[in-house]
Amino acid sequence: MSHTVDVVILAAGKGTRMKSALPKVLQRLAGRPLLGHVLDTARGLAARRAVVVTGHGAEQVEAALPALAADLPWQAVRQQPQWGTGHAVQQAMPCLDDEGVTLVLSGDVPLTRPETLAALLSAQASAGPDALALLTVTMAEPHGYGRLVRGADGEVQRIVEEKDATDAERALTEVYSGILAAPTRRLRAWLSRLDNHNAQGEFYLTDVVRHAVADGVPVVAHRIDDALEVAGVNSPAQLAALERALQRRVADALLAQGVRLADPARLDVRGELVCGQDVEIDVNCVFEGRVELGDGVRIGAHCVIANARIEASAVIEPFTHIDGERSGVTVGAHARIGPFARLRPGTRLGPEVHIGNFVEVKNSTLAAGAKANHLAYLGDATVGERVNYGAGSITANYDGASKHRTVIEADVHVGSNCVLVAPVTLGAGGTIGAGSTVTKDTPPGALTVARAKPVTVPNWQRPRKAR
Ligand code: UD1
Ligand code: MG
Repeated sequence: MSHTVDVVILAAGKGTRMKSALPKVLQRLAGRPLLGHVLDTARGLAARRAVVVTGHGAEQVEAALPALAADLPWQAVRQQPQWGTGHAVQQAMPCLDDEGVTLVLSGDVPLTRPETLAALLSAQASAGPDALALLTVTMAEPHGYGRLVRGADGEVQRIVEEKDATDAERALTEVYSGILAAPTRRLRAWLSRLDNHNAQGEFYLTDVVRHAVADGVPVVAHRIDDALEVAGVNSPAQLAALERALQRRVADALLAQGVRLADPARLDVRGELVCGQDVEIDVNCVFEGRVELGDGVRIGAHCVIANARIEASAVIEPFTHIDGERSGVTVGAHARIGPFARLRPGTRLGPEVHIGNFVEVKNSTLAAGAKANHLAYLGDATVGERVNYGAGSITANYDGASKHRTVIEADVHVGSNCVLVAPVTLGAGGTIGAGSTVTKDTPPGALTVARAKPVTVPNWQRPRKAR
């Protein structure tokens, strides 16, 4: 693009039909607020800056902006009260330089592709330095949208809002998407001429078309086919429909890369899923944050995996929950996890580790070939190669004030139902007898049995329930 683009994002509206305490533009689509998707699009265009117009829920929206906008220069301006879309853009104008083009986007229209906007901007540029360009789409059911009114030669004359339209105008099917591009200097002048003499008593952004036409400036419509790209979110039903549509886009891209999805309609990616060759994903899996699946990885049905790296040929059996949060989780090559396993932040599993059903691992490192196959907890532990960790065993890593480490050296066998009271080190090759409560370090190669002495109370009467 030859010219500089500033993006104005309208995000002051109420979104009454969402019936949510969260402002509409912060409702999540694929795990990211709607406004985040729009800012991503602006970033994709290499915009000079984004000006976000806030109003309803302004504090919440502005608090979310630094994280959502990230490296894109941004500013927030408040529109109070909300007197319409034209009034909203007027609030942004003091932040914009005359030199440059303003692209107006809606904070609740998340699926516009940067390529589409780039095409709109080049349509604007090629129509002349003063031209106004509108993004339009033809809809069989245009109810609620502003209609594009064209003259006898097809030239754009104005946009009429549903509530102001005559029956003949309502029959028009080319609608305004809410997205336009105009030279900032011109837009400023047109906005200053807006009035609110219409059915809704609002300052309509769409009236700039009339002023541009009156000024003899070219007005061009860049018409697209995919209504999804300009679909707004006004209700939970629309949000859900866009969610499925976006997920389908993601699933189709994965299929095209060669990832075998058992059912592309039953996959949810709420972040970034990076897959190697020969990856297989069964139904109803949810991926969040950044997840990497190495070559030959198999993911069973009903897994939730967040912020994790699964290395080559590892198998994640059904109903496994992995959440690396900020510290991440790594699962080594050829490891086998689950079914029903839970891996928490800071878990680092080496190659060929086995974690079985109802095993929880947190902030622990397990070296190659270590196994914890049933009903166990490993927290803040360093586990050596080939360790076998028995059913029902736990690390008592927390004394109520601080967390302590457990070190289990290579080739240790921990029997069933052991309590390892940290800090403690189990020497290499040792065996811990079933039911032991280990409070002291154990020497390498030794058998340690540390059980409480049995207590027997003869003739003891079990308390009875009062009737
Ligand atoms: C608008 C267009 C309509 C178009 C439709 C596309 C106008 C007058 N009409 O109608 O031609 O077909 O979008 O979806 O522009 N907003 C503010 N401040 C306000 C009012 C709205 O920031 O005072 C924001 C909303 O939060 C939303 C956007 O502007 O992000 C569009 O507002 P909305 O009320 O949805 O406009 P529509 O009536 O749908
Ligand atoms: Mg709308």
